[in-house]
Amino acid sequence: MKRFHSRALVVLSSLPLVALGFGSLDSATVTTQVAAADSQSVTEKAAASYDAKGELIRPADHREWIFVGAPVTPNDMNDGKAAFPEFHNVYIDPVSFASYKQTGTFPDGTVILKELVSVGGKSMDSGNGYFQGEFTSLEAMVKDRKRFTEEPGGWAFFRFGEAPNYNPTGARMKTESCNACHSGANEDYVFTDTYPVLRAAKAQVAK
Ligand code: HEC
Repeated sequence: MKRFHSRALVVLSSLPLVALGFGSLDSATVTTQVAAADSQSVTEKAAASYDAKGELIRPADHREWIFVGAPVTPNDMNDGKAAFPEFHNVYIDPVSFASYKQTGTFPDGTVILKELVSVGGKSMDSGNGYFQGEFTSLEAMVKDRKRFTEEPGGWAFFRFGEAPNYNPTGARMKTESCNACHSGANEDYVFTDTYPVLRAAKAQVAK
């Protein structure tokens, strides 16, 4: 939360201080004000930062980003061992989402995180189904056509390891282990069709 605040303050530095509310910003205020910031500020602000080795620094607050959907590939529908078990909670950084809502495209600097979560149970008072259990691991994809010139679409892929103690930085994955598969995605290496939040945002742009 702390880091997001400081980022928001950079983006919003041209707004009157009184509108910022200093440390008392709630996330709704931040999102509204980021969306209202001029597009130059939006494109200048990057959610991704890197250490000296080029590893992606893990965002401190990704569970407060825009939650776009949760595909689920349960082990028991995949011969007991899904490739990516089991729920995939997917988030996009708020600044890039604000830009996506305006343009319908992912700007350079977009960070999309996928946090894998086990199936914790299969029955509740609401019925039978799949209910989320524990966080298991965290992965990311970052678009930057200037930084990752050799990657298809400018998207680089990273892994932060296993929960609960994710690594502070994400190791870069080889193109063939991640991006090769994502080249078959619906839109710019992202499987947009499976995220209702992104579909709805895109539909608004088309109007
Ligand atoms: C077998 C094909 C395949 C491989 C290999 C693969 N992915 Fe994906 N990935 C998908 C599909 C399909 C989705 C969307 C549906 C889902 O999550 O099940 C997805 C979703 C994602 C998302 C959410 C955004 C989006 O595009 O939907 C991220 C982030 C992601 N993968 C990262 C990675 C990383 C990091 C690796 C390498 C360790 C990787 N993926 C390897 C197929 C793949």
